[in-house]
This record gives sequence, structure tokens and C-alpha cells, in this order.
Amino acid sequence: MTTASKLLQWYKRHRRDLPWRKTRDPYRILVSEVMLQQTQVDRVKMFYAAWIPRFPNWKRLASASNEDVIRMWAGLGYNRRALMLRDAARQVVERGVPTTTEGWRAIKGIGPYTSSAISAFAQKKRVMPIDTNIRRVLGRLLLGKPFPQPRDDERIQKVVNDFLPHRGNYFDVPQAIFDLATDICQKSPKCIECPLRRECPSAKKFLSGRVRIPKQMIKKAVESRHAEKLYPDRIYRGRILKAVRESKNGMPIGRIGPIIDPYFDQIVDSEWIEKMISRLIKDQLIEIVRGKLFLKK
Ligand code: ADE
Repeated sequence: MTTASKLLQWYKRHRRDLPWRKTRDPYRILVSEVMLQQTQVDRVKMFYAAWIPRFPNWKRLASASNEDVIRMWAGLGYNRRALMLRDAARQVVERGVPTTTEGWRAIKGIGPYTSSAISAFAQKKRVMPIDTNIRRVLGRLLLGKPFPQPRDDERIQKVVNDFLPHRGNYFDVPQAIFDLATDICQKSPKCIECPLRRECPSAKKFLSGRVRIPKQMIKKAVESRHAEKLYPDRIYRGRILKAVRESKNGMPIGRIGPIIDPYFDQIVDSEWIEKMISRLIKDQLIEIVRGKLFLKK
């Protein structure tokens, strides 16, 4: 039996029941994939369940205002993703639904991972999307690297062609890998329970104790942070957006400081707040009308 069929057999018995696995609608697949970037599966399930009835298809999303999508996205974080998704829907409505990976890639905001993911899951293309989970599993299994890095993706893509079956449910292979990555092939893997341990060169290394798990695998993404502040600016920008979203008649600019930061100092921190507001305006999430902040209409 090939390694991929072993994986698919394991998947049949262990697969998670996820709503976006019950559809081949490229719209729904794109929504799920964009939500799954940087957000845990359990959280995404709730937001996906609310989003689909509100924006059931490309057309309905394409006609949504910034404010509409920002409100529906509230709580998911990385709010620009909501506008990117809406803008992608506008492009699809204008140009038609792409039928190739390259076609998806040509839509602004859709990168190599997402274009491959939609092609595989919605259109049964024989391609492998590589995100951090898939990289970890395939880098270990196909390259024998216990802790693969983004620079290994090119080599993974080269050898994955031999790994993917030509017939049957080859499009389920990436889904099976997501589940293996979550249940077994975690950062510190449970190789003993892995259905692929006999085929996996990294399992041999892990099981013989010849791998030390690096504490700090990769440097954290560099996030801008204002001097002395507890969190990166992204967190405070999220708080500003939340305060604006929840205000009834707009949020006066002068009041926002102490709402988002209990240690706010009018003199030291004003420039910091203004910068964050400018960024939110540039990202088209909010606007200023007569000294008050509103969600962008
Ligand atoms: N992570 C990214 N895409 C996913 C998917 N479709 N299912 C589960 N986890 C994922």
C-alpha cells in the first residue's frame, strides 16, 4: 500500500467533521480558508456558520459595504482579511469564477497557498497547498527534516508529485494532512500513534530521541510595538476598532485613548494613537467624520 493510501485510510476513520468539508462551492471554500488563516478551527466554525447565511454567495458579498463586512468579521481579528475577501468576491463577479490555480492566483489578495487550496478542495485539482501544518508533515515525511522551514517548500513541491495519487480521492490528501498535523504530527509529534511512522524518516529520529525540540523554533514575526506598551500595536488597533464598532453615534477621537489603554497618557501617547488611527483609515476600516470615528461606510 502506498503511503498516501495509508494516510487516506487513517483519514476515513479519524476525519474531523468540518462544515467546509461538506461543500465544493469555491465561494465557501475561500471564506473558510481566509478565516482559517491565523484563527483556530473551533473559532472559525462559529464565524463561518454566521457568515454563510448573511453572505451566501459571491454576489451578495460583492455588494456588501466595508461596514457590513467589518461588523460580521468582529472578533476574528486581522480585519483587513474581511475587506480582502469582499474585494476578491467583487473580482470574481466581474471576471467569472476561475477554473485553474493560476486563475485564482490572479485575484488580488489570493496567494499561492489559498489558490492551491481552492483548486484542490473545490475543483479537485491535483495540487498541494502548503501552509505551516502541511509543511511540517510533508517536510518530515518526504524530506526527513524534523523542523522544516518555509525555504523547504520548493523541495516539498518537487517531491510531492510522486506522493500524491493520480486516482481516487487525491484531493482529500491535504485535508488528511491537516488532521494528522492536528492530532499527531504536532510540533512535538506523537510518532508512536502515527499511521505513517514506518515510512517517515523523521519518526525514526524522533522515536530514537535524536531530535531536540527547539524552544524558540523561529523568530516571532516582528510586530511593531510602542515603547513601554504591554502588547503589539495590532492589539490596540483591534481595541480601537471594537470601540468604534460598539459606539452608537461615532467615537470622539479624544476619548479613545483611555478606552483602549488604562495607562494612556495624553502627552506621551497622543502621537501613537494618531498613528494607529491613520493606519486603520488607510486600511479602509474606519473614517473620521466631524471629529468622530465611524466604521468606513
Ligand atoms: N487549515 C487551513 N485550511 C484548513 C482546512 N480546510 N481544514 C482544517 N484546517 C485547515
